[in-house]
Amino acid sequence: MTHSSNQVYPVIWHNDSVSLIDQTRLPNEYAVVEIHRSEDMARAITTMIVRGAPAIGVAAAYGIYLGAREIETSDRHEFLQHLEQVAQLLRSTRPTAVNLFWAISRMMKTAYETLGTVAELKQTLFQTAQAINAEDLQTCQAIGANGLAVLPKNPAKMTILTHCNAGALATAGYGTALGVVRSAWTEGRLARVFADETRPRLQGAKLTAWECVQEGIPVTLITDNMAAHCMKQGLIHAVVVGADRIAANGDTANKIGTYSVAIAAKAHNIPFFVAAPLSTVDFELSDGSQIPIEERNPTEIYQVGDTILTPEGVEFYNPAFDVTPADLITAIITENGAFAPGELAKSKVKQMV
Ligand code: MRU
Repeated sequence: MTHSSNQVYPVIWHNDSVSLIDQTRLPNEYAVVEIHRSEDMARAITTMIVRGAPAIGVAAAYGIYLGAREIETSDRHEFLQHLEQVAQLLRSTRPTAVNLFWAISRMMKTAYETLGTVAELKQTLFQTAQAINAEDLQTCQAIGANGLAVLPKNPAKMTILTHCNAGALATAGYGTALGVVRSAWTEGRLARVFADETRPRLQGAKLTAWECVQEGIPVTLITDNMAAHCMKQGLIHAVVVGADRIAANGDTANKIGTYSVAIAAKAHNIPFFVAAPLSTVDFELSDGSQIPIEERNPTEIYQVGDTILTPEGVEFYNPAFDVTPADLITAIITENGAFAPGELAKSKVKQMV
């Protein structure tokens, strides 16, 4: 995988380091950042150079390997002790997307279970990070196909509203919600995407719109507070969003504002789909109230460029995610099929679509 093809790959291994598309600079500038050390990978995740649940999982997996190769010891016990510190640093970057913790756990399990020399162990960690990257791409393609099977059949060409960016940039490539959009577009089932701008970080305006333009998919940008109005006007046939963490009962954490989109969709009888890999499902949490919600720096809401938007003396609250209750979700589309939220446990077994 390289950055030279038409496809968008936000995280790739290239020239002995990890190349990240700098998502803080899109759409005005396409810049690639080379990451050589685990500390730099942790910073890239925190500052959202790389973002989106599956993409930060892939990035963290490579981060573990980058940390591993810096450890200068041939003593296995000492190596694993140092590697735990690397894992801890990467775990502390962002709290909500469970894919981050899933990928780190898989890497650490590999480290503990691999026999042989420290050099062999490092090699196996590299292969595991590469596998996590490649598997996510396949998973997104399966989500796209499974989503197509459950989208409304009427009208023949539909409009889909999405919130935030759950596209190629947020995954290893292809995307989850935008994977479904891409599949619908390829099959001639899509008329247009409506993209919520997604305050405060504007992932919809900057990233989803950019991806659609790259693919030639017609896209209309709206501000977040226009979604219900568009639904009432009959402009939206389905909503498809991604997820950062899904509890066992189907409650779904995703970008702040997703919950209000789901309420509006329910009020207008519009199907609301969540598209996510099974690595986003946290079966250890019985419901969404247990999902940790990241709070980010308030400058994100009161400052645009160099301009301060509010008077002094105002207080701020900047939660980055919200939780959509399962009863507002029509189906959760995974690589193993689409499931009613209450039937998520069945997703552990692959379904035929
Ligand atoms: O804060 P972000 O940009 O990392 O939030 C991203 C989202 O909320 C996405 O919808 C989610 O991670 C799914 S990405 C396939």
